Amino acid sequence: MGQKFSRVLTIKLFRKKNCMGINVIDEDDIDKMQLQHHLLREYWKGNFSAPVREILSIDGTKVLDVGCGPGTWTCEMSSDFSKANYTAIDINSMFPIIKPKNVEFVQCDILKGLPFDDNTFDYVFLRFLIIHLTEIEWETIVIRELCRVCKPGGWIELMEPMNELRNTGPVTSKLCEKFHTRIRNQKRNFSRFHELMIENHLININHQCREMPFGLNDIKSELGLDIMRERLKKHLQFERVYKGKIEDMLNKVAVEAKVHNTYIETHRFWGQKELSSY
Ligand SMILES: C[S@@+](CC[C@H](N)C(=O)[O-])C[C@H]1O[C@@H](n2cnc3c(N)ncnc32)[C@H](O)[C@@H]1O
Repeated sequence: MGQKFSRVLTIKLFRKKNCMGINVIDEDDIDKMQLQHHLLREYWKGNFSAPVREILSIDGTKVLDVGCGPGTWTCEMSSDFSKANYTAIDINSMFPIIKPKNVEFVQCDILKGLPFDDNTFDYVFLRFLIIHLTEIEWETIVIRELCRVCKPGGWIELMEPMNELRNTGPVTSKLCEKFHTRIRNQKRNFSRFHELMIENHLININHQCREMPFGLNDIKSELGLDIMRERLKKHLQFERVYKGKIEDMLNKVAVEAKVHNTYIETHRFWGQKELSSY
């Protein structure tokens, strides 16, 4: 979808212990991540919710995108708010080969600590890492690191999906069962985000939710459904019980989405680092 990416695609990343992710990221996954970015922007009517529009228009404002994937959010922001400087990190290098001049990509693992000084960034953004990180990692490392590198008075924004689909029909429920159970058992959810933000001295904390429906007769819904079905297919590809039946079942998922109004929730949390907290 427009950008060119390094073909060094990543097989090892998702073999990490406890990781709920798919095993291999290929160019198709990158396309899906980009498509998903555009859909999310449409549903949320913008790329962010924190009140940072003014700060982003100031020369030299520093923005950090954590777990940036192919950097779609960062690249778009860097063009929408071109006075700011952007740093985008990911454990995997799937960064665009040609990048805007106000963007730096850094390959690193947030769990090993971010390679930035305290109080460096005016705005720290993180999106869709919930299945990659455990509850304990969020609590003991991730939120603390985001707060550490954020300047006093700066903003932190987290955006995550509710991993379980809502209003699923019988076939969809069956296909999602294992995945949903694993998510529940491993507590890969954001239920403690608000509390963790308070514990880390953030103030002006806000939370909003948007539903992304899969069964409406519009292009957004159809694209969302397509992404959801591809993800399901990846999760199910090694399940022997579904061998030879997946396509047929995924067609039923599409029908059920319309009948049952299947949707997924996405959530944004944002808060400000206190001026005197560190
Ligand atoms: C679902 S993708 C989201 C990408 C991007 N934030 C977006 O919204 O399009 C999750 C990303 O988190 C990255 N990731 C997973 N664990 C990580 C870690 N420990 N440190 C840094 N990045 C990580 C993955 O490589 C992947 O690119």
